[in-house]
Amino acid sequence: MDKIVIMGPTKLKGTVEVSGAKNSALPIMAATLLTNERCIIKKVPPLRDVNTMIKILRNLGVKVQFEGSRLAVDPKGYSNYVAPYKYVKEMRASFCVLGPILAKLRCAQVSYPGGCAIGNRPVDLHMKGIRALGADLKIEHGYVVAKAKQLKGAHVYLGGAFGSSVLATDNVMMAATLARGKTVIENAACEPEVVDLAEFLTKMGARIKGAGTHFIEIDGVKKLGGAEYEVIPDRIEAGTFMVAAAITKGDITIRGARYDHLGALIDKLQDAGVAIARHGKDIRVRVLRSLKPVDLTTLPYPGFPTDLQAQMMALMAVIDGISVVTEKIYPDRYMHVSELARMGAQIKLEGDSAIVKGVKELSGAPVMASDLRASAALVLAGMAARGRTDISRVYHLDRGYDRIEQKLLRLGANIHREKEE
Ligand code: EPZ
Repeated sequence: MDKIVIMGPTKLKGTVEVSGAKNSALPIMAATLLTNERCIIKKVPPLRDVNTMIKILRNLGVKVQFEGSRLAVDPKGYSNYVAPYKYVKEMRASFCVLGPILAKLRCAQVSYPGGCAIGNRPVDLHMKGIRALGADLKIEHGYVVAKAKQLKGAHVYLGGAFGSSVLATDNVMMAATLARGKTVIENAACEPEVVDLAEFLTKMGARIKGAGTHFIEIDGVKKLGGAEYEVIPDRIEAGTFMVAAAITKGDITIRGARYDHLGALIDKLQDAGVAIARHGKDIRVRVLRSLKPVDLTTLPYPGFPTDLQAQMMALMAVIDGISVVTEKIYPDRYMHVSELARMGAQIKLEGDSAIVKGVKELSGAPVMASDLRASAALVLAGMAARGRTDISRVYHLDRGYDRIEQKLLRLGANIHREKEE
């Protein structure tokens, strides 16, 4: 396994290019299972999770070529309908192949995804939505087994105890494109990645209205064609670099991000006193004065994204004063707290909240990555801390960040990757 070694503190300066959005690319790759025709998807980030999805598609009999960030997918004639445990356990997002395979092949067998470091990850809303479309669904030997001669449009409410569900919305929307009649998804997720998927499906010939709102209407069609598409920039990667500029008191220009996808983070960083300026498609982030503590609560989009909670907590850990983080999407998403504490952070957990008392400076230490975004938080903390930080188990980081240490190196970070003895 690899580890990342960082010497801090460093002020990051320069320009960084944002890659395509992982959480757009994954469901869009699944959507190619709805057609017999070739699809080209551009700006796909070369990540572990993308490679896992490629393995799943190939295992189904789909031909996939991936060069640079261009994916060519030829699903013609695929007939295998099983997404096996060995891949789904690597990446629970694989579950979003259920809807497309079922809609195309009338049956699907997808390993029931387990939980992960950020908590129990149920799929009850996925199953509720697929059942509402008329499928017969059961769980057998750790697999969700789905059958449906013909899916029929339905009105389904997909809100759960934690609000809307991104991938449940994706799963049901994809299945509904080939159902007979109209489907309405109420309390649909509004994330930009859901809109991106809807736009790709529309290019394939699907009839979808309302993506990006809580009410999505899908009129089923007989078949879908191939499409060529470019995924949106990754707002979570962009946000991670914005926080990197703030925590290192640097000056970074983020190139190619979608400013309109980052409203909640921009608002929070500006509340803290971070200087953020928009120049066309570039976002420049600087620290021109001492920062103030802020409180944040994670919510479904357009609320503050849970995927930027850990990164913001690392920043709050070095802002003088008391900040309160409340995690409403994954109440247990605090694996980074104990690791940040090893670096001298003062954080107290109270239920689904974390009380952060800022310290003057963090100190470098050996720490362990636990999940994708917690790993990013530790990288940010390591760049601000005094001394050496070794972050082990960085495969978590590779799941969602495209060559992050190379991008940070170019911004002046003292960072490198080495084999873990
Ligand atoms: C997507 O996961 C993202 N992953 C996650 O990003 C992100 O954290 C999450 O949305 C929330 O924004 C991808 O898009 C591949 P949810 P998803 O269903 O769709 C509960 C990352 O770091 N829920 O929107 O699986 C669930 O437990 C990853 O890139 C149910 O109760 O998340 C959570 O509390 C991590 N029943 C809430 O809803 C269900 O059937 C939101 O989860 C489904 C979800």
